[in-house]
Formats: sequence, C-alpha cells, structure tokens
Amino acid sequence: MQPSEAVDLAIPADRAAVPAVQGAVGSGLAHESAVLHVTGGAAYIDDQPELRGTLHAAIGLASAAHARIRRIDLAAVRAAPGVVAVLDAASVPGLNDFGPVVHDDPIFASDEVQFHGQALFAVLAEDMRAARHAARLAEVDYEALPALLDVDQALAAGSRVLPDAQLRRGEPEAALAAAPHRLAGSVRHGGQDHFYLETHIAYAIPQEDGTTRVHSSSQHPGEVQLQVAHALGVDAKDVVVECRRMGGGFGGKESQPGQIAAIAAIGARLTGRPVKLRLDRDDDMVLTGKRHDFRIDWEAGFDDDGRLLAVRFMQATRAGYSADLTGAIADRAMFHADNAYYLEHVDILSHRCKTHTVSNTAFRGFGGPQGLFGIEEVIDAVARHLDLDPLAVRKRNYYGLGERDLTPYGQKVEDNVIAELTAELEADCDYAARRAALRAWNAASPVIKRGIALTPVKFGISFTATHLNQAGALLHVYTDGTVLLNHGGTEMGQGLFTKVAQVVAEELQIDVSHIRVTASDTSKVPNASATAASSGADLNGKAAQQAARKIKARLTEFAAARYGVREDQVVFRANRVHIGNAGNGNGTATGKPGAPLSLSFAELAKQAWMGRISLSATGYYRTPKIAYDRETLSGRPFYYYAYGVACSEVAIDTLTGESRVLRTDILHDVGRSLNPAIDLGQVEGGFIQGMGWLTSEELCWSADGRLTTHAPSTYKIPAVSDVPEIFNVRLWERGFNAEDSIFRSKAVGEPPFMLALSVWHAIKDAVAAAADYRVTPQLNAPATPEEILRSLTEARQRDVEPPAGATA
Ligand code: MTE
Ligand code: MOS
Repeated sequence: MQPSEAVDLAIPADRAAVPAVQGAVGSGLAHESAVLHVTGGAAYIDDQPELRGTLHAAIGLASAAHARIRRIDLAAVRAAPGVVAVLDAASVPGLNDFGPVVHDDPIFASDEVQFHGQALFAVLAEDMRAARHAARLAEVDYEALPALLDVDQALAAGSRVLPDAQLRRGEPEAALAAAPHRLAGSVRHGGQDHFYLETHIAYAIPQEDGTTRVHSSSQHPGEVQLQVAHALGVDAKDVVVECRRMGGGFGGKESQPGQIAAIAAIGARLTGRPVKLRLDRDDDMVLTGKRHDFRIDWEAGFDDDGRLLAVRFMQATRAGYSADLTGAIADRAMFHADNAYYLEHVDILSHRCKTHTVSNTAFRGFGGPQGLFGIEEVIDAVARHLDLDPLAVRKRNYYGLGERDLTPYGQKVEDNVIAELTAELEADCDYAARRAALRAWNAASPVIKRGIALTPVKFGISFTATHLNQAGALLHVYTDGTVLLNHGGTEMGQGLFTKVAQVVAEELQIDVSHIRVTASDTSKVPNASATAASSGADLNGKAAQQAARKIKARLTEFAAARYGVREDQVVFRANRVHIGNAGNGNGTATGKPGAPLSLSFAELAKQAWMGRISLSATGYYRTPKIAYDRETLSGRPFYYYAYGVACSEVAIDTLTGESRVLRTDILHDVGRSLNPAIDLGQVEGGFIQGMGWLTSEELCWSADGRLTTHAPSTYKIPAVSDVPEIFNVRLWERGFNAEDSIFRSKAVGEPPFMLALSVWHAIKDAVAAAADYRVTPQLNAPATPEEILRSLTEARQRDVEPPAGATA
C-alpha cells in the first residue's frame, strides 16, 4: 500500500498515545489504489492481458415490452463475419436462471419477452465489434401481449412480483379520526441508473477437468459462483470467481453480474475458449436493473404544533418483471418510513408491483431513501399547513423525547444522537438567521427564488436478512514479516480494502505498507455475503481482526515460551515486538541472560516459522444481537443506526425551472472514523449521488416500454459544476459507536446518500416562495426544470383557487 498524507483530523487521545504505525486505524490514509487509479495502473477486468483465443460476446436484446416469441431467426447473426457461436436458452447446460432469491430471471428469454431490452441470445465472435454488430441482426417475430409499464397500471391490474406486506402499530385509523388536523397526499420519485464508470463485465476462462474461473465485476462473487455453477450444471467447487476491484458498483453489481458471468461461462464451456462479455453503456443501461421508483400515498393526523399523531403510508414500487432483491428493498423502505421520527400510530402497506420493465435492483440506500422520501414529505406538508418552520416540526417529532424510542418494527432506538447533531449543525450553519434573510430576499426577487432546508438521516445498519451478517477472512504472515490478507468483501472504490488493511496494521502493529490485500476470491474465503448494506468494513474488518488476533496470540505464546517471560510481557508496538520488562513493567527475560529484548516483527515471524508455528489463520465474524422475524416484520433487524444532518440552500429560476445548490453544510456521524479521508469521500460522494437522484437523473420510457434515456447524452448525472458552491462537510468529532463495532466506527457507504433530501426540500421551499408560502408545492422527484415549472404553475393556480385535499 502507498503511504499518504493524513487528513487534518485529530486522532482520539487514547490512540494518539500509541506510537502510530503508518496507516493505523483512525489515520486518513489514501485509498490503497489511489496512485494506481490516477496513473492508470489499477487493473480492471478489461485491462487484463487477453489470453490467446479469447472470444468476445455481445447480447441480442428484445425489442418488445411484453410479447410471445413466434419465431426467432438467427441465420444472419450466425453468418456475420467473425461470429464463432450463438448462445440462447437452449444452449444453457444447466438452469436458465440467475434469480438471486426467486427463480424468475431467465438468462435468456425463450418463449416470452418480459421487457424491452431483455436478453434473447448472445453472440461469440473473434472481436468485440464483430460480436456487437452481429447481435443486431436477429429477426424476431413477436406476438404482442398487453404490457404494464408503471406502478399505476400494475396496481390497477393487481400485478405483483411478491405478496404485499404490512407493518402496523397502534390504532392508526382511530388516531387519524381523532386528530385535530389531517392531511393527505401522493408523491412520486423516479428510479436511478447506477452509472458506474465500469459497465458490467465478466471474463470466463475454461480450466482443466470441467472447471471454470470467472473474473466478474461483482459485489457478490460468492453468489456469482453459484449462479454460474447452476447455469453450467456443475458444482460450486468447480467454479472460482474473482474480483480485484469494480469501477463502481453502487448496488448495481449486487445481483445482476450473475447473468453476465453465466453467459461468459457458458460460452467458455461450449467453445473451450476464454470469453469476455463487457456491456457497452447503452446495453448496460437497457439490460440491467436500476433503483426502484416509488409512488407513496399518505395520510397524516397531527396536533397544532405539528406533532404526528397517526400516519398511513401506501408504498407502491416498481419491481420490474422479476423479484430480484425487491423483497428486501421494499422491506427496508418500510423500516425507514419513520426516518428519525417517532410514529406512535402507524400503518405502512407495501406493494411490490410487477411491470414489463427491467428488473429493478439494489442501489445505495436499498429502499432507505425511498422510505425517508415519504416521511419527509409528510413532515414538510404538515409544517407548511401550520405555517411552521419545517425544522421545528422535524425536531418535535424526533425519537428519544420521553418514552418515544420504539420503532414501528419494535426495535428500541438506543443510540440516538439526532437531536445533538441537529443542534450543532443548526448553530454552525446559522440556519435560523439565513432562513429569515432568505425570506426577505425572496420578497424582493420576482424571478429567482431561494429555498433552505435542514433534514436528518437515521439509517439502520445490518442486512435485514439476518443470515447475511457474517464474514470471513484469511491472513498469511510470511517469514519476512509481510502480510497477505484476503476477505470476503469487495472493493468498488469505497475504500474497504484500505480500511481492513488498517485494522490489521493496528492489530499487528505493523505499517500498512507491509500488508497486501488481494482480490476477492471464492476459493480463498467461501460463502461470503455481498458487499452491501454498508456493512463491508463492519463485517470484514472484524473477521480480519480475529484472524490477526489469532496470529498475534500464537506469536505471543511462542515468544513467551522461547524467552521465558509471561505472555503479558510480549508487546507488539510500531513494527517491533518488545519481550520482557513490558506488560506490567516488572518482568525480565529469564530464559536468556541480559536485558529485555526487542525484535522486529519480521524477526519474530521468522523465528516462529523456524519454531514450526503456523503463520496462517482464518477469521470469522457474525454480528451479535440482531434477530428479526420476516413474517411479522418485527424484532431487531439492525445492530445500530448511523445518523447525519444536512442543510442546503438552493436557488431556482421561476422562468426556466433551473435549480442550483448554493450551499450545503453536512454533519455526519461515522462513529470513530477508521479513516476520515475515505469517510469524507463517502459522505461527499453519497450526497452528490443523492442529489442527482432527486434533481437531474430522469429515466424515461417510450409508450411501447423502450428506455429512451440510455446514454449520458440523455441521462444527466451530476457534474463537477453541480457540486454546491459552498460545501462544508464535517465528520462528527464526538462520534462513537455505542455497540462493539470495529474500533467503534460506523458504516458510512449508504447513509449520506439521503442527506440529499435537504436539497430536495430546499427546492420545495423555493417553489413555495414563488406562491408566497401560501400553498404546499406538489413536486415529484427528480426536480428537473420541467418538473419545477409544472409544480410552480400548479402551486400558483392553487394559490388562486383553494385546494380540496385538506380536511382541516
Ligand atoms: N463508493 C464508491 N466509490 N463506489 C461504490 O460503488 N457503493 C456504495 C457505497 N459507496 C459504492 C460506494 C454502496 S451501495 C454500498 S452498500 C457501500 O459502498 C458498500 O461498501 P461498504 O459496505 O464497504 O461501505
Ligand atoms: Mo449497496 S445498495 O447495499 O450495494
């Protein structure tokens, strides 16, 4: 690993006392591949030298949303120059399925097409261009079937991928009826394309005796291994899947790489040649799943101060044609329908709608952002209805006031710091004064309107599927004292490999430059969970720590015996091992005459090897305390919660609908940071990605179900110029995980994504300003210029004619 500059953040006092090894826990070490990333030295799958005989694959995509295939003529495809073979459903030696949970995801559609862009066949050719060209030459005769393209059509038709789920507490109907005020509404947000820089790719290499090695850009190599084995009709032991790094995953490579890897592996088995399948950007956007879009209908009862007395949600999400991970995502949306607020009487009904569109999948937050979106809409509407500052209403509804600390699913919120974070940021960013100044400014500005909002995030950490909360690691110490480390997690840019190396550096007290983390590999650590749910460092850090502690214990025992000291007199510190006269300070090395001695870690490792001590260990970890019943949706799904707050100020142009973020202040709790430099990057990146979801990233489909936004020319992710002009991001200095997490840190990968809701509500505030704050804007996400103009126009109309929706 490369040494790096430390970020200017104090190391906690208890750690500063230890002579730091380079890259110790808490230091702002640069990403282990930072230098390689910027010099082109980081090898992605497509950078690997190609083996002789490598074939290139391209997928033939369906051009109907829902249809029966009457006839498919691949003659022109087969005859195209360079084509070696064509694969379709009939070529799959094993199971034609890559569904991660439910087996409803055909690798190749055979009789029925279920979305525009579904894979029908794959071409293997001598080069990539030949393959991609040939893949366009199929003649398919479709018999059109009725297609359900959105949530509304699916709801009306009763079309679902999974049964509905409901989470209830108290007497929501009665509490609603008795509430002094009631409001109802319906709001929508769109999906989101992952837009990782590296599109889906797999490189399958046939090996001896029917075995296969697959390089897969995957957050879940262990699952790809099973998907490939099933598709080939072989055992797990016959397939090895490897991933050194992804050029971004963001959830998009949690379940979807299985199809890509299976196609490459089938091609490799059938031809006996290595096969590479890399999707081009358009095919990647058309073929693979995205964030779930939601329609959320709500009803709320509240008192004069805006305290919520009862809330009902109907969450309807577009799963697409298959289940994929929709069950867990929709569950997490229900578990986050409270965000940071205590909801005493609550009813959440969840519909997982089956549509004839691409199957939606994991995306940073995994349903959490969708859940938060709903409740923040409610809070904002309540505040505007009562003409109160939305922040005041937020604070009044926070968990933790009095007995109000039980979530609707029955988990007690024990580690609540949201009020402290809010108070700190509110003061820091001068919220109240700026809000007042902004309102005065708006009164004098007819065209440009400004808005401000401060919003909280509370996000549950752990996979809700309890069994996934486990991890393994494999650690070798060589006789020169250097360490090779492998764990079940994957690196997608988030810095997991760096953090886990830091954990081992800290435990063994050796510089991180002596540690190499190698590619995730199913033959080294088996049955690993996906690197997801932000839990990569929590799980793999603990597993690696356990492996390091095993080695350390063996070395300690060996040194104590060899030098005749007690084990507490063997102390590892700063690349050295101090033997005797250490520990409680009153011992001497009795086995050998003379003064206490100090060896380098490498010397001790060498001696231990000579003494026939094993220098290789596995580590294993399972998250304690969690237990949750999927049937009743109750229990303790989360080990702990991560918290953050953000305040954003925006300006909108009421003539064009354009918006811009002028300033954002963020205070985020990562517990005790394992690496403040990487954590800051995650907070900033997550926030900007969330901003893209809520402002500019719009997925559009034609009337016949074809995705029309399938390239950067039509799909707008945030650019450097969209970063807030003033962007103050701070990790909470007092952050500390009340649970025994890895060095008391907190997961950081997903929670900051939802801080972008501050931008969303600031935009709503600016739209409200355009109607002099007399009506609550009805805005759907993303807030594109078109949507802002529509919302403005509608709000101004309502300002003239009072609405029918409000009942009090
Ligand atoms: N950061 C980068 N740079 N690239 C990514 O693909 N994925 C996010 C987040 N941060 C992602 C990222 C998602 S969806 C998750 S779940 C976590 O990283 C996964 O990694 P972790 O568990 O190690 O935090
Ligand atoms: Mo992240 S959506 O859990 O991969």
